[in-house]
Amino acid sequence: MHLHRFEKIWLMLGAGGLALFILLLCVNAFAMGMAPPSNMEMIDPKKVAETPPFDKPGLKQIGDKEYDAYMTAFAFGFSPTKMEVPVGSTVNFHVTSPDVIHGFQIPGTNVNFMVMPGHINSATYNFDKPGEYLIICNEYCGAGHQVMATTIIVK
Ligand code: CUA
Repeated sequence: MHLHRFEKIWLMLGAGGLALFILLLCVNAFAMGMAPPSNMEMIDPKKVAETPPFDKPGLKQIGDKEYDAYMTAFAFGFSPTKMEVPVGSTVNFHVTSPDVIHGFQIPGTNVNFMVMPGHINSATYNFDKPGEYLIICNEYCGAGHQVMATTIIVK
């Protein structure tokens, strides 16, 4: 079969692009572990209740108006149930789940992420307005999904 020279060039470009794509995919999967590039903190979901700091969920002051909030999202609630910080505080949320996938959203802010068993997901928010902020689960997780909420009070 005779192939025109340009046809050969195009075939080589096509095959080359495909080979490059497969190579990059393999590098991602095997060399880089094919995981989300952002938060890589892992935890054994069966041992959340006994793994510090999630054995005692709550707020930890780490600086002037800066807090770490270690929280668990479970079917069907959040722990701790109520938190309070002074206005102007920066809160670093670290959240994990011992059971299924939940959501973590604070309406009116840009805090909105998934909480996956086996992962510790996080987000930081600066509460510069006083008020009662609702934290809700926005990922359908079972029969009690709609009651899954907690609050953070800023004053
Ligand atoms: Cu947890 Cu919906």
